[in-house]
Amino acid sequence: MADSPNCDLKSLSPLQLFERVTEQGEKVRALKAGKAPKDEIDAAVRMLLSLKLSYKTATGQDYQAGLPPKDLVLINNGTAKEEDEDLVDPWNVQTSNAKGVDYDKLIVRFGSSKIDTDLINRIERATGKRPHHFLRRGIFFSHRDMDQILDAYENKKSFYLYTGRGPSSQAMHVGHLIPFLFTKWLQEVFDVPLVIQLTDDEKYLWKDMTIEKAYEYAKENAKDIIACGFDVNKTFIFSDLDYLGTSSGFYKNIVRVQKHVTFNQVKGIFGFTDSDCIGKISFPAIQAAPSFSSSFPQIFNGKENIQCLIPCAIDQDPYFRMTRDVAPRIGQPKPALLHSVFFPALQGAQTKMSASDPNSSIFLTDTPKQIKTKINKHAFSGGRDTIEEHRKYGGNCDVDVSIMYLTFFLEDDARLEQLKQAYTSGELLTGELKKVLIETMQPLIAAHQERRKQVTDEVVKQFMTPRKLAFEF
Ligand code: TYM
Repeated sequence: MADSPNCDLKSLSPLQLFERVTEQGEKVRALKAGKAPKDEIDAAVRMLLSLKLSYKTATGQDYQAGLPPKDLVLINNGTAKEEDEDLVDPWNVQTSNAKGVDYDKLIVRFGSSKIDTDLINRIERATGKRPHHFLRRGIFFSHRDMDQILDAYENKKSFYLYTGRGPSSQAMHVGHLIPFLFTKWLQEVFDVPLVIQLTDDEKYLWKDMTIEKAYEYAKENAKDIIACGFDVNKTFIFSDLDYLGTSSGFYKNIVRVQKHVTFNQVKGIFGFTDSDCIGKISFPAIQAAPSFSSSFPQIFNGKENIQCLIPCAIDQDPYFRMTRDVAPRIGQPKPALLHSVFFPALQGAQTKMSASDPNSSIFLTDTPKQIKTKINKHAFSGGRDTIEEHRKYGGNCDVDVSIMYLTFFLEDDARLEQLKQAYTSGELLTGELKKVLIETMQPLIAAHQERRKQVTDEVVKQFMTPRKLAFEF
């Protein structure tokens, strides 16, 4: 498509045109860097100019790298918001800033607290373990009541972990690994029970999908989650479609939450409208219920007051703001939270990696070749247009997707710092940086695929059977 400038550019939205220009700019840079034949480079440059012209005609603005058109309709969890505010809710993440969402502003808007050095040091003291690099590098950046969890832990009071996945597709992407890898670390260092909710009901309600398909995806996704290395003796994974019908404790909590949240409140928090089906309107109570230990009598011996800690990306926070608001009114402890930033789309940090846009994502099922092609073709570069300019001015790590991905997945702090410096100074070129990223991601995903192969249906069944875990309550 990028090679045929006339293929109905008029039908593209300003944002789509912006993406086409960005993609074509990348292509020109790659051709130049790869010393492609002159006529090929000239054709690509002509195409770039033509796309830039279409963009200007459509928006009245010159194309500026990293600055998408400001025509996005932004909402803040259903309520009107300032034009320059980022959109972050369970279904959309969108910002006009190439560096990504302004997380400091989000902390203020959502009313959560920053994970600062003091808190990280406290986690280290409590666990006796070096903090995970997701904490050290600010990937988990915000929290609610983590200090309470640590107070309780230091006083030998246990807590439990709760996280989840909405099985919208057969394959998960690497962004989905972030909360699960971190949850696994938390489970190891704190040695606590973990429950994982698979919201197949949610996906049935929101997507064009049958109940059977949603349930099938839940089981497939469970394999990827198990392949992250969770301990079967300490972890209960459940599909809503299965477990809700069998656990009276769970259903009682759903009904309690439903009684204490009005339609107006969910409209305000989630942006539901009168034409949304009633399944969607009542769904938040289902995602809230696992925050209360009485939803799992088999694990907690019927105890109602075990505190819950929820690691997730910050898009899920609206559910838990609602849950925390309801908790005291139904006599339950408020769940604590640890929020992560978003793993960006390949095209840049203006949006998160999302399974619904295959071009934005590296999937856990991708082959080494697909990973290489996607990174080379789509990973947004903070490099300069020509090698000469790059050597002279250096690359921009703040918008470069390869640097961002390495910050998530390259564990070696010194090597990461060295790469950032070499890229900023212009010593390291975009192609070389992408090679490092490809060589980091290929073995990581291959190892995941290998572990996933070992996860049989029987293993899934063990994880998904309601049972007592290896803890006394
Ligand atoms: P889902 O399936 O959209 O996402 C699963 C988990 O992955 C996080 N996530 C990401 N993290 C970093 N970068 C990204 N690009 C990215 N995309 C998704 C999500 O925040 C989430 O933690 N309704 C939920 C399922 C759910 C849940 C929960 C999640 C039920 N209970 C409790 C967290 C905690 C959903 O559809 O997630």
